[in-house]
Amino acid sequence: MAGDGFVLLKRKGKITLENRKLRYGLIGCGMIARIKHMKGVAAYKDEVEVVAFCDIIRERAENYAREFGAPGAKVYTDYRELLKDTSIDAVIVATPNRSHSFITIDSLEAGKHVLCEKPMAKTYAEAKAMVDAVKRTGKVLTIGYQNRYRNDVQYVKAACETDDFGEIYSAKAHAIRRRKVPTWGVFLDEYEQGGGPLIDIGTHALDLTLWCMDNYEPHMVAGSVYHKLGKQTHTGNALGDWDPEKMTVEDSAFGYITMKNGASIYLEASWALNTLDEKEAKFTLCGTKGGVDFNDGVRINTVKHDKMIVEKPNIYLEGVPMAEPPKDMAVEMEARIFIDAITKGMPVVVKPEQAMVVTQILEAIYESGKTGKAVYLD
Ligand SMILES: NC(=O)c1ccc[n+]([C@@H]2O[C@H](COP(=O)([O-])OP(=O)(O)OC[C@H]3O[C@@H](n4cnc5c(N)ncnc54)[C@H](O)[C@@H]3O)[C@@H](O)[C@H]2O)c1
Repeated sequence: MAGDGFVLLKRKGKITLENRKLRYGLIGCGMIARIKHMKGVAAYKDEVEVVAFCDIIRERAENYAREFGAPGAKVYTDYRELLKDTSIDAVIVATPNRSHSFITIDSLEAGKHVLCEKPMAKTYAEAKAMVDAVKRTGKVLTIGYQNRYRNDVQYVKAACETDDFGEIYSAKAHAIRRRKVPTWGVFLDEYEQGGGPLIDIGTHALDLTLWCMDNYEPHMVAGSVYHKLGKQTHTGNALGDWDPEKMTVEDSAFGYITMKNGASIYLEASWALNTLDEKEAKFTLCGTKGGVDFNDGVRINTVKHDKMIVEKPNIYLEGVPMAEPPKDMAVEMEARIFIDAITKGMPVVVKPEQAMVVTQILEAIYESGKTGKAVYLD
């Protein structure tokens, strides 16, 4: 840091940065790093720079350093070496699921703030160890559930907070694709990822549902997990045929969750299901005053003047002539919230304790799918 005129002020344990950019390290230089995190950094390039890149495939880290790095950005193949650089304030963990927990914990212990990709971890025990590490180190940790920052989701969350739906006692979390199995990276590998569509996209849908219900107290989980299409060929998959030899994860999974307050959630997750009812990163809420779904944009149903009505907020200004539709700023918001948490001590929106409960429920669905028995979490 010498020679750059940096000033680091400590205020009540929070670090406030003045006259310098935050220094990030990126661990895992793959798809999500490119399409999300490097865009998030670019949106705040006056405040953040990426000074170190790590990937077990050196060439990837080198390419990212060239394309996205600050001048003189360093390249590593072992994240532990990156963590030794005391000038790095924060890391983004964008590796496969297996390493989220240990890389995050090591990073927190090394004094870095962490934005870790979803799912938080493969297991509840791993996720809990991450939460414990946050408590121990006092560093910021948040998880990459960027769907929370979509304009439509923000609208529904605001409606939940003003109690528009009353007590939400029935919900569905949707993560259904007809034929869109991810064929890059290690998504088909049970050991690396901990599972297939349930842990990959079911995690987003469940996160949104719990967040809008503001209910993180699961009671019982029952699940069914299917390996029915994984060995098929000529699949019609939108991302090209998957390799049946490599497909060790489920192709669909379904869970029924009851909460301590009596509310229930049905979670459906698939990368490949013979259905025309595709819905991803969406949810349905039913409360005592009204309900909401995303079946034709946001649709709110309630009763007014003794009649059933449907309200359709025009969030994206559809059909409004000459109007520029508002863009979803989910990527930028995620990046902004992380920066503000580090520099101003503001709370993160995706709290690690919340993401931990998502992981706990998903793990219980997998367990129930194996044993055929319900799993009780209290
Ligand atoms: N938030 C979202 O909507 C979203 C979308 C896609 C993926 N993801 C998550 O991001 C993570 C990565 O997914 P991806 O699609 O970018 O995969 P990817 O395969 O494209 O990238 C992962 C990269 O991590 C590298 N890597 C593996 N182990 C490593 C280690 N120990 N240290 C350093 N680098 C390592 C790999 O070589 C690879 O380059 C996954 O956890 C996935 O669930 C999130």
